Amino acid sequence: MTNLNYQSTIWTRADALKVHENDPTTTQPLVSPNFPVMSNDVFIWDTMPLRTLDGTIVSVNGWSVIFTLTAKRSPEVFIAKDGTYDITADWNDRHGRARICFWYCKDGKSWIYGGRVMKEGVSPTSREWAGTPILLNDQGDIDLYYTCVTPGATIAKVRGRIVTTDKGVSVEGFNTVKSLFPADGKYYQTEAQNPYWNFRDPCPFIDPNDGRLYMVFEGNVAGDRGSHKVGSAEMGSTPPGYDQVGGARYQTGCIGLAVATDLTGDNWKILPPLVTAVGVNDQTERPHYVFKNGKYYLFTISHKYTYADGLTGPDGVYGFVSESLTGPYRPMNSSGLVLGNPSSQPYQTYSHYVMPNGLVTSFIDSVPVPTPNPKDLQYRIGGTEAPTVRIELKGDTSFVIETLDYGYIPAMRDIKLRKRRSGLSSILDDILNLNLTQKEAA
Ligand code: FRU
Repeated sequence: MTNLNYQSTIWTRADALKVHENDPTTTQPLVSPNFPVMSNDVFIWDTMPLRTLDGTIVSVNGWSVIFTLTAKRSPEVFIAKDGTYDITADWNDRHGRARICFWYCKDGKSWIYGGRVMKEGVSPTSREWAGTPILLNDQGDIDLYYTCVTPGATIAKVRGRIVTTDKGVSVEGFNTVKSLFPADGKYYQTEAQNPYWNFRDPCPFIDPNDGRLYMVFEGNVAGDRGSHKVGSAEMGSTPPGYDQVGGARYQTGCIGLAVATDLTGDNWKILPPLVTAVGVNDQTERPHYVFKNGKYYLFTISHKYTYADGLTGPDGVYGFVSESLTGPYRPMNSSGLVLGNPSSQPYQTYSHYVMPNGLVTSFIDSVPVPTPNPKDLQYRIGGTEAPTVRIELKGDTSFVIETLDYGYIPAMRDIKLRKRRSGLSSILDDILNLNLTQKEAA
């Protein structure tokens, strides 16, 4: 049984001083401005591959499935002064009209647009923000964990089902949203404590050691904005001349943890943060795990602009490693940085998700386009899948190995759907069944 009486691991300023942009072993290879676009009708960004509770990326009857945050490209609305399409304004506006859609394919990369997961009006707030789709059993039931945002920010889930034919994939259900919890104000900052609070991106998982269901999520450390202290614990072992922290008390990112009462994931108890970044960074987004060789690799994405005064690092994915779920954790590669953008293309990709096979998916944000006069900086907006990158996890370190196809998210296991059984077995039995089978398969 995991010790739930734990201290949060502190990602210190000294750790973050070790972040080195452009280190070739932790830098994502350059993305070409000539990238293909998945759809001329929609932008996509955060990508959520269908997986089971133990993290395995699955296909269903041979169909790979991803869920994405999605917004309609709206050239008729976003018009520049000269009458052309202002794609940058359209792209920057996307968060306010994010909808979760799904895509499917047979080869893990030729994604076909499947449409919205929830019909308009099902989700109770104006924004459907990131989370994790979980295949619960071999009858196609899915729990989509996600975030209901504006007003407020509530971690929620909605249950539905995937249906496949020879021709494609569709979804059914996803019509009743269950609110799970908002920030509590005790461990995690609320909107009342800070209007710029972050609380979102649930990622549930079964702990391979104790078999219980947990989730990680993005939060900020509780307390009124400006009241946090950047003390010696947050500083770590800094060198001389590094004691001025400016307004670093405003950066209070953390990775949250909650435990479910059972594997249905219908009831949750909030636990203290696993990792805090007070005085270091304000956002530790989309946390997720890879379990490998007895280690817990806890990944999270973060931005250059959310670093505290006196610190910097690239947009990308950061990692923390431990032998136990509740830590203590060590920053991977000593600094935390696992895969960042090169400084020449600082916004080329974001929202990286590390899969158990070492493949890392992300989306293209914007890539510079060469111009005759380098002063006329131009760039191309993405809103589409980036090339997948393979990294290797070796103990506490990681290495970039290769770049693969755009949006390459191959299934690690195919689940053959069985006919729906009539009422005899519960979802709980089915979840156990699927995850036990996986254990045997491993
Ligand atoms: C990451 C992210 C998530 C959030 C979503 C909003 O790209 O900021 O944390 O759920 O995008 O669009």
